[in-house]
Amino acid sequence: MAAHHSVIAIDGPAASGKSSVARRVAAELRFAYVNSGSLYRAIAWLANDRAVKPDDSQAVAKLLSQTSFRFDLRNNASAISIDGVDPEPHLRSEAVNNVVSKISALNVVREFLLGPLRQYAEQANLIMEGRDIGSAVFPDTPYKFYIDASPEVRARRRAAEGQQDNLSSRDRLDASRTIAPLKIAPDAEVVDTSDLSLDQVVALVLRRLEEKGLRRGPDERA
Ligand code: DC
Repeated sequence: MAAHHSVIAIDGPAASGKSSVARRVAAELRFAYVNSGSLYRAIAWLANDRAVKPDDSQAVAKLLSQTSFRFDLRNNASAISIDGVDPEPHLRSEAVNNVVSKISALNVVREFLLGPLRQYAEQANLIMEGRDIGSAVFPDTPYKFYIDASPEVRARRRAAEGQQDNLSSRDRLDASRTIAPLKIAPDAEVVDTSDLSLDQVVALVLRRLEEKGLRRGPDERA
């Protein structure tokens, strides 16, 4: 399971600010950025699209076996194709928000995605955000952060994005599922962003990575 490249794991609950932090840190370091939630969202979209119930493990397993997936890295970001279709425009819809926690609690889905998630690290240095990246997907990486914020701040951030998202029920499902639940890896650095600006959090994460001896990616502009 050894990754050939450096992996920075960024975990945390929904709307904690982890995507903004991960994107900025990836750009600073010239690492690829992978949002693992997009892969779970893509499968949630597929299940909705094919009228498969998100908690019907057997039906979802059958659907996965009948569908062709591509998980690529393009321009330092992940790109998904499902039976030749790019699901990206649909991934943050209310319909997907409503079923993605159920889909991602299924063992068959988590096992299905573990391989593709780990394979990204064979292609490039990367920063991957999610719920179980430091605890389950890349438990051996020395670079792990858990980005948190108070429930009020998170609800405000989601609302500011104009998104309808039942954060508390998603958090409850994500943290209580039996397989790879949202949890803080023992060796992760916890950052509470409630009272910090994005710039402050990015600076803090970059400082910690430097202290841990992380080397930057190649500077393609040089
Ligand atoms: O990060 P996000 O809110 O886009 O993730 C969507 C859902 O995907 C989240 O509610 C739980 C699931 N997920 C997961 O189970 N494991 C991950 N590593 C990432 C996301």
